[in-house]
Amino acid sequence: MTAQNRKLFVRSYGCQMNVYDAQRMADAMSPEGFVETDRPDDADLVILNTCHIREKAAEKVYSELGRLRALRAERAEQGGGELMVAVAGCVAQAEGAEILRRAAGVDVVVGPQSYHRLPALLAEARQRPGVVDTEFPAEDKFTQLPASDLRRVRARGPTAFVTVQEGCDKFCTFCVVPYTRGAEVSRPVAQVVAEVARLAEAGVREVTLLGQNVNAYDGPGPDGKVWDLGRLLFRLAEIPGIARLRYTTSHPRDMGDALIAAHRDLPALMPYLHLPVQAGSDRILQAMNRSHRSADYLRLVETIRAARPDIALSGDFIVGFPGETEADFRETLRLIDEVGYASAFSFKYSARPGTPAADLGDQIAESEKVDRLARLQDLLEQQRQAFNAACRGRSLSVLFDRQGRQPGQLGGRSPYLQAVHADAPHHRIGDIVTINITAVGPNSLTGTLEPFHATDRLEAIA
Ligand code: SAH
Ligand code: SF4
Ligand code: F3S
Repeated sequence: MTAQNRKLFVRSYGCQMNVYDAQRMADAMSPEGFVETDRPDDADLVILNTCHIREKAAEKVYSELGRLRALRAERAEQGGGELMVAVAGCVAQAEGAEILRRAAGVDVVVGPQSYHRLPALLAEARQRPGVVDTEFPAEDKFTQLPASDLRRVRARGPTAFVTVQEGCDKFCTFCVVPYTRGAEVSRPVAQVVAEVARLAEAGVREVTLLGQNVNAYDGPGPDGKVWDLGRLLFRLAEIPGIARLRYTTSHPRDMGDALIAAHRDLPALMPYLHLPVQAGSDRILQAMNRSHRSADYLRLVETIRAARPDIALSGDFIVGFPGETEADFRETLRLIDEVGYASAFSFKYSARPGTPAADLGDQIAESEKVDRLARLQDLLEQQRQAFNAACRGRSLSVLFDRQGRQPGQLGGRSPYLQAVHADAPHHRIGDIVTINITAVGPNSLTGTLEPFHATDRLEAIA
């Protein structure tokens, strides 16, 4: 086998930042002659890009490593080429060398801040398998990584993620992220602008800016001043071809006035906001070390809605945090009732080793968590359906980003991040069109394409 046709398979778990990191890992391996494959069984290198947020997510890695060990043995038996295995992401950061003790057949363990070193680590592992790098290095990985290959960007379609901020200083008592991703760091404005401009050159129309606390963004600007996220968004909207901007995930504490104003004044900024509150009871919010109380959150929602009345709100909720009573839980339901979410993610509390909440007394019984989660999800689902149903008969702008489920159909996203399908020819992928919504299904909207206007392609660029 030549060094030019080796295959890389990356499996990502967890959040969107892991999806972005996986793409950058492929960038890191590209000069080594690796091309991506979507099948682990024909790969020469498999990277598991892991998530540590809840126990279930973290445990998945070990079952996957078991399968890879079997694949490796089978390959060796048949005299096939080598299969190298690397564990990256947040489990790698949290568990480090422990992974080598728990699972055989791992060549490299690499944390989220040092994956630009993957080629060197793999070379080292060829001599001596079991290399661990979970440092937070002084160098910025983004300056070390090769730029993404334009052909690969094009193949991924007209939407892209770009990490602009990493890490977390908030230390919510249930959460591993401050330990796995380190302190809050923002990428310089010029670096982000250059990356987005390159994506636009490859046909990307919509960029979602990522950060564990993306709205805490405070990157150094080209003028020597610190820029906040609102200012960065205005700058990115000027890049030719970029028609839509989104960002996730935001912390209520960092939802500053400039960012709220951007929702009012920047047409390219989509009216969708993921703003996790976690719980509705002030007692629980305090025990979680969330800096907001339910009244603060409700006030903030009101301010945001005053700036952008149609904004679709989304959130994260945890049920069964230690000490959560039925009365506390009902306050979460009440808050949800008051806000009205277009979509949301909700989880049973999972005790994570090393976090303060894991050591609290009064852990909630699993059966109670299951019951509360079901009730919470019922309410959230009703709200989601109501939000979607209200779109029937409306005209929504949709960026076609993929083939639809039925032949002759394309799929895309509304400004509110709903999946929308309509009959349209394949060459219109990448176009922003107006769709009249005629049907609302459980997971997507369907509609008909309104006649083409020349301005559609230029929507929100001006
Ligand atoms: N930075 C974001 C969230 C990042 S983690 C924020 O501050 O909101 C994504 C979500 O996972 C969290 O919002 C939370 O709802 C959930 N989560 C984090 N730790 C958890 C745990 N130990 N058990 C259950 N859910 C958890
Ligand atoms: Fe975790 Fe809280 Fe930081 Fe979000 S703000 S990443 S929930 S510690
Ligand atoms: Fe998981 Fe790490 Fe993201 S723990 S949610 S992959 S930041």
